[in-house]
Amino acid sequence: MKAITYGRAACGNRAARQGLAALLVLLVMLAVPALGQAAVRERESINSGWRFTSGDPEGEVTDLRYDVRPAYDDAGDGKAADARPEEAARIASDGTRVLKPWILPTANPFIKDPARRHVAPEGNPGGDVAYVQAGFDDSGWARVDLPHDWAIAGPFITEGPYGGMGRLKSWGIGWYRRAIDIPASDAGKSIFLDVDGAMSYATVWLNGQIIGGWPYGYNSWRLDLTEHVIQGGRNVLAIRLDNPPASARWYPGGGLYRDIWLTKAQPVHVAQWGSAVTTRDVSVASATVDVSLTIANAGSEAARITAVTEIYPLDASGKRFGRAVARIDHSPGDVPAGESVALRGEAVVREPRLWGPPPTQKPNLYLAVSTIRRGGRISDVYETRFGIRDVRFDPARGLVVNGEKLRIQGVNNHHDLGALGAAFNRRAAQRQLEILRDMGVNAIRMSHNPPAPGLLDLTDEMGFLVMDEVFDSWELKKTPLDFHLVFPEWREADLRSMIRRDRNHPSVILWSIGNEVGEQYSGEAGASLTRELVAIAKDEDPSRLTTLAMNFAKASMPMPREVDVISLNYQGAGIRGIIGQYPAFHAAFPDKVILSSESASALSSRGEYLFPVAGAISGPVRPWSGGDPVTHQVSAYEMHAADFGSSPDRVFASDDQHPYVAGEFVWTGFDYLGEPTPYYTSRSSYSGIIDLAGFPKDRFWLYQARWRPDLKFAHILPHWTWPRREGQVTPVHVFSSADEAELFINGVSQGRIKKREYEYRFRWDYVTYAPGEVRVETWKQGKPWAAASVATTGAAAALALKPDRAAIAGDGKDLSFVTLSIVDAQDAMVRTAKNSVRFSIEGPGEIVATDNGDPTDMTAFPSHQRNAFNGLALVIVRGLPGQFGRVTVRAEADGLTPASAVITVQKP
Ligand code: GAL
Repeated sequence: MKAITYGRAACGNRAARQGLAALLVLLVMLAVPALGQAAVRERESINSGWRFTSGDPEGEVTDLRYDVRPAYDDAGDGKAADARPEEAARIASDGTRVLKPWILPTANPFIKDPARRHVAPEGNPGGDVAYVQAGFDDSGWARVDLPHDWAIAGPFITEGPYGGMGRLKSWGIGWYRRAIDIPASDAGKSIFLDVDGAMSYATVWLNGQIIGGWPYGYNSWRLDLTEHVIQGGRNVLAIRLDNPPASARWYPGGGLYRDIWLTKAQPVHVAQWGSAVTTRDVSVASATVDVSLTIANAGSEAARITAVTEIYPLDASGKRFGRAVARIDHSPGDVPAGESVALRGEAVVREPRLWGPPPTQKPNLYLAVSTIRRGGRISDVYETRFGIRDVRFDPARGLVVNGEKLRIQGVNNHHDLGALGAAFNRRAAQRQLEILRDMGVNAIRMSHNPPAPGLLDLTDEMGFLVMDEVFDSWELKKTPLDFHLVFPEWREADLRSMIRRDRNHPSVILWSIGNEVGEQYSGEAGASLTRELVAIAKDEDPSRLTTLAMNFAKASMPMPREVDVISLNYQGAGIRGIIGQYPAFHAAFPDKVILSSESASALSSRGEYLFPVAGAISGPVRPWSGGDPVTHQVSAYEMHAADFGSSPDRVFASDDQHPYVAGEFVWTGFDYLGEPTPYYTSRSSYSGIIDLAGFPKDRFWLYQARWRPDLKFAHILPHWTWPRREGQVTPVHVFSSADEAELFINGVSQGRIKKREYEYRFRWDYVTYAPGEVRVETWKQGKPWAAASVATTGAAAALALKPDRAAIAGDGKDLSFVTLSIVDAQDAMVRTAKNSVRFSIEGPGEIVATDNGDPTDMTAFPSHQRNAFNGLALVIVRGLPGQFGRVTVRAEADGLTPASAVITVQKP
C-alpha cells in the first residue's frame, strides 16, 4: 500500500463540521433513501456567469506576481524552429514580495518526496487588493462564460515582432471573478475547484484569502477550497492570470480557456485522478483489468474503508448497458487522517470488447464504477472510463495494437481551434478529428503540451492513438519567458499531473517528456535530466513507454539511451543536408522502436499556385521558388518545406526505405495561430495539411492517397482558370491512390505515366495552358480506378452557403461550421475569388467567428465581413443557450447573388 501525505493538514474545526454533516447526511438519507447514495460526489460545471477585466487595479498593486521575471530585449520572433535553445538568464528573487511561496504548495500532491513538499508561509498576499474582496462591485466588468480566450477577438497586431505568437495580444494580466453559493447542506464536505487549464500563472483567492494556483497554462489542477468556504452563503472566487510576453513559439491564448468545475465529496473520497485502470493478458477470450484507487481522508480521524469496483460496457453513445461484466473487491484499508492510501484489485473480463483504432478495429469503452464504503456507509462513488487494449512497440514490427501491426499515420496539432482560439470547444475539436479521419489519420501528437481533457475523451471515443506530450522546453529557453522559468520547481508536478490525469485514456499510447529540448546538446547532463523525467513517468504509470522528440541528438549521444522509444523530428529524411539518421539509430538501438515525431514541415497556402514550378520534389521556400515575397503566400504545388523539412513525397520515400520505422506524425494536421514560417508578418502557420479554417489544402489528397490506398479518387492541381497564362507552361500534378494515370487537356492526351518506386504523385510538368478542361483517368494494377476533371470557370456570379450540420444543440456550445463558396453562373467554384462577403444571422443563434484560411488575413475573427480566400470562407455559428428554433445565415457580396442557409437549433 502506498501512502501519499497531503500538503495541507485538515483544519481544526473540521471534526465539529463533520459531526453536523453526518447528521445532515443521515437526515437526508432517512427522508429520501435514494439521495444519500446519489449525492456523495458532485461535479458541477461553473463555466457560466464569470466577470472579466484586464490589468490590475490602477495604482494599487505592485507585488502581485508569481516571481520576478528576467528582462529581455530580443523576442526571438522568426527564429528558425530548429535554432539551438539558449542558456536561461537566471534571476533570483529573494522570495519576498512574490506569490510563489503561496502557489508552490498546490504542487504537493505531485511531489513524491515529502521533504521536498512546500509549506505556505503565513500571510495573505493580495488579500488587500480590491479585486479579491467579496464585496467588490464587478458589475462594470465584462460578462463571460468559459472557456474564454481573452485574446482571440483581436485586433491583430500588424506591426512588430509578434508573428511567432500569432499577432494577438495574449500576454498581460487578466482577472476573473465569480460568486459560488455553497448551501449549508454541504457542511462537512470537501470542496474543490478543478481547473482544466488557465493560461497562465494563475493565482486564486476565495473570499479574499489566497488559496494557491498553477503557473503552467496547459496542465489541469485542483485547489482545496474547503477551509475557506462560507457554508450556507455566497463565496467569491477571484482568479488572476499573468500571461508573460515572449512565452511561446506559437499562440498560447490567454484566460480561463478550458472548463472549470466545483467538486464536492465526502471527506473520505477518491483523490484527484485517484483511479488507475490498466489492462494486461489481453486476448479476444479474456483480459485482466487492474484497478488501483487512491483514497484520501480529509477528515480528522482515521477511516476504515472498503471498496468495490464494477465494470460495465459502454455503447457507442457512451451509455452503459447491461450488467457488470466484472467485479473487484478491493482489499480493505485504513486511511489515517490527512493522508491517502491506494487500494488495489484485479478482475478478469471474459470476451472483452477491445479498444482499437478504426478502420480495422473499434474504439470500445468500459466504465469502472468504484464504490467506497466507510463503516458500511457509502462515502464515494467514482467513475473511470477506460478501454481494454494491448499496445506493444516491437522493434521489428513497429506498433502492434491488439496483435495487429499498425503504421502510425499521425499528425501534430497545437491546441488552438483556429478562429475560436485556445478556448476549448468539443464540437470544434471533433470536427478537426473528423477531417483528419477522412484523410486516413490514426494518431495525434499533442504538440507540445497536455491537451484539454475533452480532446482525449474524443480520441478515446473516435479511436485515435495519442502521443501525450508535456513540455517544449526544460531548463534551456527557446523564447525569453517560456516554461524554462518554472521548470526547476515544477517539472515533477507538471509531469506527474499530466500522467495522473491522462493515464486511463486508452487512446494514449506514449508519454513524451519533451520536444527538441536544448538539453539534447548537453551530453550527460541532458541525459541525466532525461533519466529523471523518465523515472517519474514510470513511477506514475508503469504501463506505458516514454519518448522524447529529438531533432539534434544523434545515435551516439547519451540522450536517446534514456527513453524507450526513439522519436526523431525531421532527422529521418535528413535536416539541412545532413543525411537521414534512421539507419544510425536502428544500428545503435536495435531493441528500440523508432518513429518520426515530426515529419515534413511542408509549407503552402491553400489554392495559391506560384510559377515557375520547381523541378525538385522537395526544397526550401525561397523568393524565387515556392514563395511570394510580396503576397507572403507559399505555393500549393506542395513541394516546399521549412529549411529543415521536406515535402511529403520525400518523407514517404524515406519511410518506405526504412520499413522498421513505426510511422510518422506530420507537422502539422491543421494550420495553427503563430509560427508563420517563412513569413513572420503573417498571423498563422503555413504547415497545416488543412488550413486554419478547416479547408483541405492539396496536400490533403497526397496523404489520403497514401493512408487510404483503397479509396478510389484522383485530385488534380492547379485550378484551370489562368487568363494570363495562355500558351505558357503550367504543370499539372495529380494526387491519387492509383498507380497509373493519363492526363488530357481539352481531350488531348499529355501522356500516360506510371508511378515509379518512391514516387507518390503524377506530374506532367510541360503542359501548356489553354482554357477548357483538364481530365485525368487512372488505373490501379491495370484496372480502371478513378477519374477527375477540372474546368476553367467563368466570372464570380453567386454565393453558396453549406452548413456542416443543419441541426445543432441549443446548449450554448454546439457549433455549425458553414462554408461559403463563390461560384460562377454554372455553379462551379471560382477558385481564385477573393470577394469581400458580409454575413448576417437571424433567429436564436450568433456568428462566433469567420475565417478563410489565409495566413495573411488581419481581419479580426469576430468580424461579420471577410474576404473569401481562393473561393472559400467559413462562418462559425452557435445557438444561443436555451433558445431553440430556425436560424438563418445570410451572405452578401457586391455584384453577386446572395445566399442563405438554415440551421435548426434544437433542445439538447
Ligand atoms: C519543429 C518544432 C515544432 C515547430 C516546427 C515548425 O522543429 O518542434 O514545434 O516549430 O519545427 O516547422
